[in-house]
Amino acid sequence: MRALVYHGPGNKVWEEVPDPVLQADTDAIIRVDAVTICGTDLHILKGDVPTVTDGRVLGHEAIGTVQEVGTAVKNVKVGDRVLISCITACGACRYCREGSYGQCLGGGGWILGHRIDGTQAELVRVPFADTSTHPMPAGVSDEEMLMLADIVPTSYEVGVLNGTVRPGDVVVIVGAGPIGLAAITTSRLFSPSHIVAVDLADSRLDAAKLFGADVVVNSGVSDPMEVVADLTGGLGADVTMEAVGIPATFELATRMVRPGGHVANIGVHGAPATLHLEDLWIKNVTITTGLVDTYSTPTLIRLITGGQLDTTRFVTHRFGLGDIMDAYDVFGRAADTGALKVALTRSA
Ligand SMILES: NC(=O)c1ccc[n+]([C@@H]2O[C@H](COP(=O)([O-])OP(=O)(O)OC[C@H]3O[C@@H](n4cnc5c(N)ncnc54)[C@H](O)[C@@H]3O)[C@@H](O)[C@H]2O)c1
Ligand SMILES: [Zn+2]
Ligand SMILES: [Zn+2]
Repeated sequence: MRALVYHGPGNKVWEEVPDPVLQADTDAIIRVDAVTICGTDLHILKGDVPTVTDGRVLGHEAIGTVQEVGTAVKNVKVGDRVLISCITACGACRYCREGSYGQCLGGGGWILGHRIDGTQAELVRVPFADTSTHPMPAGVSDEEMLMLADIVPTSYEVGVLNGTVRPGDVVVIVGAGPIGLAAITTSRLFSPSHIVAVDLADSRLDAAKLFGADVVVNSGVSDPMEVVADLTGGLGADVTMEAVGIPATFELATRMVRPGGHVANIGVHGAPATLHLEDLWIKNVTITTGLVDTYSTPTLIRLITGGQLDTTRFVTHRFGLGDIMDAYDVFGRAADTGALKVALTRSA
């Protein structure tokens, strides 16, 4: 088969590799029908994730058709169409029993396109297939469901639910990439009074407006602290979310929150940030962090089929799977191309 293979920082090749084979009786081999690229894949290619080694097939989000299953796979059958989640779950360890699949101790967690070969390929081996895939619901397109492999559960769980967004809240989201935009989309489920999006790129702020932000702030031009102070009578936001992954934006998120409010960090950080306890100790704030667990995926699927959640706006560019090198180029130059998410399909 062909696959997108990582060959060290800055180096990736769409090349011929051996087809994956069943390694455990709980595995499935799945033909990839639709796949996307994540900001995390770009981090890997920069060399920010050293646990990804030379020769690894990248990708942790896909829709596929089951080709083959191990003898212990009970629910997933050959021919089934499924969502392949970014998080794999053994289903049996302490964390999986608590729904914290991201922390799986039994060989799951974020492994696809990280510790084992991933989904940016014609075929992928998915371990613990029964507890790591979700059946495709009727009437939902591959593109809509693809957004549930990673970005929507991430923003919902790590941003909106950890941040405890409630009706009437003022919510500030720093970073309006796919994750920030998904945080806007899923915050709206809780009827906040105002959603403020902060970014440096006007193209991303335009997208934020389209996704439902009430106020957008280009932090290179205006001071988001002032905007939030104006909106809240000087108090600060009920919930702030960090969706960039750098110290400056984390510190900004902690400065804009009101006493008693919540700061939800979603960004993946590669450098230490300063926690200003000299200001924060007296403010009763709650700061949360997290890797997505994907426990919310069944709920999010019901919200899509029920018409309460719209994930159709994320995909801005479409490619055939064989054109994945072009897709990486477009996705990697998002500020120029306006790319949010790209969709690669088998038949295109
Ligand atoms: N916690 C998790 O489980 C999890 C899962 C997936 C992704 N992530 C992380 O979420 C973060 C966002 O992901 P994404 O795909 O949306 O990334 P992205 O790079 O597409 O978006 C980041 C946005 O931040 C903006 N930005 C950069 N510097 C800024 C600054 N100083 N002030 C304001 N805005 C600034 C950029 O213009 C961009 O629009 C990344 O760190 C990613 O690794 C976390
Ligand atoms: Zn991802
Ligand atoms: Zn587990």
